[in-house]
Amino acid sequence: MDNDVFNTTDPLAGKRILLGVSGSIAAYKSPDIVRALRAAGAEVRVVLSAAAAEFVAPLTLQAVSGQPVRTALFAAAEEAAMDHIRLARWADACLLAPITAHGLARLAQGLADDLISTIVLATRAPVFLAPAMNVQMWEHPATRRNCAALRTDGVHFLGPESGSLACGEEGEGRMLAPERIVAELRLALAEKTLPGMRVLITAGPTWEALDPARGISNRASGKQGFAIAQAFAEAGAVVTLVAGPGHEPTPPGITRQDVVSAEEMQAACLQAMENGVEVFIANAAVADHRPAQRSSQKMDKGSLPNPLPLTENPDIVAAMARHPRRPRWVIAFAAQTHDHLEQAAAKARAKGVDMIIVNAIGDGRTGMGASTNHLRMLYAGQMTDLGSGDKLTLARRLVHTLTPLLQHTPPSSRETSESP
Ligand SMILES: Cc1cc2nc3c(=O)[nH]c(=O)nc-3n(C[C@H](O)[C@H](O)[C@H](O)COP(=O)(O)O)c2cc1C
Repeated sequence: MDNDVFNTTDPLAGKRILLGVSGSIAAYKSPDIVRALRAAGAEVRVVLSAAAAEFVAPLTLQAVSGQPVRTALFAAAEEAAMDHIRLARWADACLLAPITAHGLARLAQGLADDLISTIVLATRAPVFLAPAMNVQMWEHPATRRNCAALRTDGVHFLGPESGSLACGEEGEGRMLAPERIVAELRLALAEKTLPGMRVLITAGPTWEALDPARGISNRASGKQGFAIAQAFAEAGAVVTLVAGPGHEPTPPGITRQDVVSAEEMQAACLQAMENGVEVFIANAAVADHRPAQRSSQKMDKGSLPNPLPLTENPDIVAAMARHPRRPRWVIAFAAQTHDHLEQAAAKARAKGVDMIIVNAIGDGRTGMGASTNHLRMLYAGQMTDLGSGDKLTLARRLVHTLTPLLQHTPPSSRETSESP
């Protein structure tokens, strides 16, 4: 097993982020950005514009960043401690959140009349801008020109989004939520080990309706599949996520298609194959059966069929494994409550998949429906234990472990025929 399989961490861990805060109402959200970055393991230094200091106290940002906060370009003591050039070199990324219309104009002109703009000119690190302003300011031709110039310069924009603005108007101009800014930054800064690889992932349960109120489903939340989708996107893969009913937010950089039933999920997977799929990961807990008949109206208690006639659902994994344009890798998940590995290996044999990943259902505190899991990989007769942990950490471990296989090796066999 890869020795550093357990060292896979948040892509932001250890990254040095320079956060520039400008004079927008949205500056009050900047402490949350700092906290989310630090929670991910990043080191953060904050620079405020003079206007920003009217909206958020430097002391607040100093407390949440654990570092002195700088506001002025000409400050002898601060320049002695870490001058603006050293700060520009120190940064792995510069995040300007929020940036004002004025700030955009300044950067587009290449001006360097305050500390933030001077650092942006002096840095070689990538620059990310999260604008925040009134919709008229955002749509003004001058702001459009400035944004176009900055895009040409290679600066990355995070938002803004549409919604209700602090000024009371509705429209585009609202800064992205702090967690979304951090998620976008994480995606951008992650090491791209699988650039452009086309990955299709299914996640969540399926819902097999009996009538508009009742149906057959299971306890899957989709968390593990969504986490795997995020981990592949971080690695630079082009990820399509086909998701059954659930409440998980879509990680950035992923194309998501929502489905309800197993039949819809299969149709969505086959449709995705039209664009070419290299890696198919079947994480969804697809209902094996559906009610043989579906009523478009809610049935009376007395008219419910008992026993309930069932029909077998399509086997999506088998259909993908036997498809004429079969993905190079077909990887199936198995959730077994007992005799995990033997049952999983038998399942793999039957379906002709390349690899099977076993997750314990457990007692509801781990595995299906929970936020932690325990994963084991079965490939070519070998078992790799990925250990226990939160589902995102495990997803990153899984992608990290799969990466050399996906990069270099065609599947060594079309089955995992030996039980470990
Ligand atoms: C209450 C108030 C709210 C403001 N909100 C914004 C804003 O959301 N976006 C913006 O571009 N400018 C906003 N401004 C204007 C900027 O603060 C002003 O253009 C300032 O010069 C920006 O300086 P800076 O970019 O150096 O921080 C606001 C001004 C005030 C008084």
